[in-house]
Amino acid sequence: MIEKSKTGVEGLDEMLYGGFPKGYSVFLTGTAGSGKTTLSMQFLTEGSKEGEAGIYISFEEPPEQIVQDFSVFDSEINQLISTGKIKVVSLPLSSIENLKEEIESEIDASNIKRLVLDSVSYLRIFFPDSFSYRRAIIDLINLFKKKSVTSILIGEIPYGFNSLSDTGVEEFASDGVIVLNTIQKQDTFIRSIKIVKMRGTKFLNKLCPYEFVENKGIIVYPNAEVFAEM
Ligand SMILES: Nc1ncnc2c1ncn2[C@@H]1O[C@H](COP(=O)(O)OP(=O)(O)O)[C@@H](O)[C@H]1O
Ligand SMILES: [Mg+2]
Repeated sequence: MIEKSKTGVEGLDEMLYGGFPKGYSVFLTGTAGSGKTTLSMQFLTEGSKEGEAGIYISFEEPPEQIVQDFSVFDSEINQLISTGKIKVVSLPLSSIENLKEEIESEIDASNIKRLVLDSVSYLRIFFPDSFSYRRAIIDLINLFKKKSVTSILIGEIPYGFNSLSDTGVEEFASDGVIVLNTIQKQDTFIRSIKIVKMRGTKFLNKLCPYEFVENKGIIVYPNAEVFAEM
């Protein structure tokens, strides 16, 4: 059986029958504020509990901001960073070749086993067409596999958009796809999570509610039936 990396998100690990398959790359997408950063940081802090070093690579949001916002959910984050168990960095976006080299040297220097790229969709600016973009994403995913790095590739869905991504590339290239969304039920909005695809494991194929809980992070409720009659 394939080895799993617990995500550290209560309920999500249950949906995944243990976690992400080790060395696989999961595309995590959703609208702004849906919890992509929070879930990904939980994935990294879980890694540090298991002795796996993690890195969060951000192209837009400053690392200090990411850490400060996450400290509401995990007061130990600053300590995990100061002891080098987790790194949150912003890498320069000069070219895809440089970026790939930078990522590879970060992985080697800190023996990284968990990686988050926020956002992978941002890399699209380097490519004239979606074919070459797809090639580059697959290259990155293969690099992570070679180094046994389990990764989350973050995407963005504009409000009211009906696809998983702008290009359709990320969901095909990655090993797994998870979507965070908000569903309207009568006059309330309920946050929902759905695993669309996960190679190498069975998973709970069901729309499940989740919420943000202070000092915990995101919690998923796989047994709730809120969407059953919709
Ligand atoms: N103290 C808090 N308690 C509950 N929820 C919070 C708290 N702080 C932030 N949030 C929620 O976290 C969300 C931001 O999550 P984030 O992971 O940054 O989303 P994304 O990366 O998808 O844009 C906000 O929309 C807010 O609802
Ligand atoms: Mg974010």
